[in-house]
Amino acid sequence: DIPSLQDVFADDFLVGTAFSNSELYKDPDKELMIKHFNSVTPGNVLKWDSTEPEEGVFDFVESDKAVQFAVDNGMQLRGHTLVWHNQTPNWVFYDDNGNLASKELLYQRMKTHIDTVMKRYKGKIYAWDVVNEVIDTSQSDGLRRSLWYQIAGEEYIEKAFEYAHEADPDAKLFINDYNTHESAKSQALYNLIQRLQAKGVPIDGVGHQTHISLYYPTMTEIENSIIKFKQLGLETHITELDISVYQNDSQKYDTFPEDLKQKQATLYKQLFDIFKRHKDTVTNVTVWGKDDGNTWLRTFPVTRNNWPLLFDENLQSKPAYWAIIDQP
Ligand code: XIL
Repeated sequence: DIPSLQDVFADDFLVGTAFSNSELYKDPDKELMIKHFNSVTPGNVLKWDSTEPEEGVFDFVESDKAVQFAVDNGMQLRGHTLVWHNQTPNWVFYDDNGNLASKELLYQRMKTHIDTVMKRYKGKIYAWDVVNEVIDTSQSDGLRRSLWYQIAGEEYIEKAFEYAHEADPDAKLFINDYNTHESAKSQALYNLIQRLQAKGVPIDGVGHQTHISLYYPTMTEIENSIIKFKQLGLETHITELDISVYQNDSQKYDTFPEDLKQKQATLYKQLFDIFKRHKDTVTNVTVWGKDDGNTWLRTFPVTRNNWPLLFDENLQSKPAYWAIIDQP
């Protein structure tokens, strides 16, 4: 019987995984989650296109199952996500005439959505990714030109946090993004958070998605990006960790090369050592899937094999698992 990750890191941070509801119907998958993880994140079913596919028509069938799984097993749950440019229905951004919605209409829809979803799961979802992937360093103000931005400018981010705080004052409110270890991106995110804090916007934490690979970024870049946000007094969550085995989109392996298995194990170990060193701010480390059979990286950015997680497709612990628990 192998050690449980949540026990190994009990004095450090919560250990989480993303999951899809299909995993709840397979006993070995479900048991693995219950054994190792004290935090879970539904991979898709809390996104806008799942919970409110049509205006005012909420569908909580799948999200209720996901939340109940966490409640039944005493796990913390991260809510992902309220305001994003992907997996969000188009109606959100257009009026009845097919024109871009006014700011007022957009905010009214945003408020209704945030209010309805957050209140339903009040006390059951301890942290929410209120906004996701809002940074774009190719823009001079660092903000992605999403439809949210096109309609409302930077203010939509403030509104999202304000509505979220009103809906559930006890939930921890996060801003979540990828490539946050890149210095330009981390600086743009830092600047945005400073502007938000100066306006009194209720923001509790920064989520580093941490979709990385065996080839980049460096461990120093990751550590620096974590340290950087301590100055803002925010909590840090590692929200979507995985380590792709590829360097670029055109590579494709039939099997996981043995030397790369070891390289991945070493990187996972170094990463968890960094997280432990900064456990004063890193309070949750979540992998984006528990096993290689359940990784989004088998369809993104292209369809191919990938082995980015801690357990293999047969739910057996990989060298990466043994490395992070210090049993090489
Ligand atoms: C991914 C899911 O894992 C996939 O199942 C879905 O098809 C696309 O979205 N950043 C995020 C997550 O914030 O919501 C994404 O999840 C992965 C990248």
